[in-house]
Amino acid sequence: MCEPRYFDVHYAINPWMRDDVRVDTALALAQWQNLIDTYRAHGHTVETVPPVPGLPDMVFAANSALVVAGRVLGSNFHAEQRRPESAEYETWFKAAGYDVHHPASVCEGEGDLVPAGRYVLAGSGFRTTRAAHDEAQEFFGVPVIGLRLVDPYFYHLDTALFALDDPDDPDGGTIAYYPQAFSAGSREVLARLFPRAVVATRDDAMAFGLNSVSDGRHVFVAPQATGLIAQLDHRGYVPVPVDLSEFHKAGGGIKCCTQEIRS
Ligand code: ARG
Repeated sequence: MCEPRYFDVHYAINPWMRDDVRVDTALALAQWQNLIDTYRAHGHTVETVPPVPGLPDMVFAANSALVVAGRVLGSNFHAEQRRPESAEYETWFKAAGYDVHHPASVCEGEGDLVPAGRYVLAGSGFRTTRAAHDEAQEFFGVPVIGLRLVDPYFYHLDTALFALDDPDDPDGGTIAYYPQAFSAGSREVLARLFPRAVVATRDDAMAFGLNSVSDGRHVFVAPQATGLIAQLDHRGYVPVPVDLSEFHKAGGGIKCCTQEIRS
């Protein structure tokens, strides 16, 4: 995770980011610290990458890479403003002992590449390209399922879908998602692959409910996503509400702030 010391909305690269929006930095810092504390209280290890002045979106650590079985596929950002983030994260990964493979095509890490059971689900349409899906499949040797995103409010796959089960679950795991964020064909693919999926409403998706992190039991979820929380509870998961409302102003939530290191 990366501290939001320099977090702000200085440019608009998704529909959530608006010129007239003011970020309360002190509140953002407190919300972010609360997310770290909550992860630690649930037994998760958290490490941090130093923030860099002039990179206000660097707090969205999920976009920097996808790590599966200790292999790191780095990032190659669509927006020019975010491109320097890749090298900052790479420095951290190298110091931590990982090699980083550079994608040649636009690729925004876990923002668009989501391990779910035996697959990596991969979004395209706004940021990460189909060519990057292909690179990810070659690099990880895991079947990559391409999904087409069609609603600009859900410009990254991780704003419209998250994996509910532990990715190590041999049964393949399941997901929660908002179907209308996807093209008709992609919706059909998801329904075939994940018949037990939790299907969320637009309200829950707009509340960043699908930008959640699950350890297979606890689901760290936006408290505003009340319908989704009720569904998760009913399915036997333990919803853990964590409010990141300041980050919603930049189009991000819990998952965006969290890079998962799958060693
Ligand atoms: N302002 C950032 C952008 O538009 C938000 C990134 C959110 N991250 C995510 N994993 N969805 O790039």
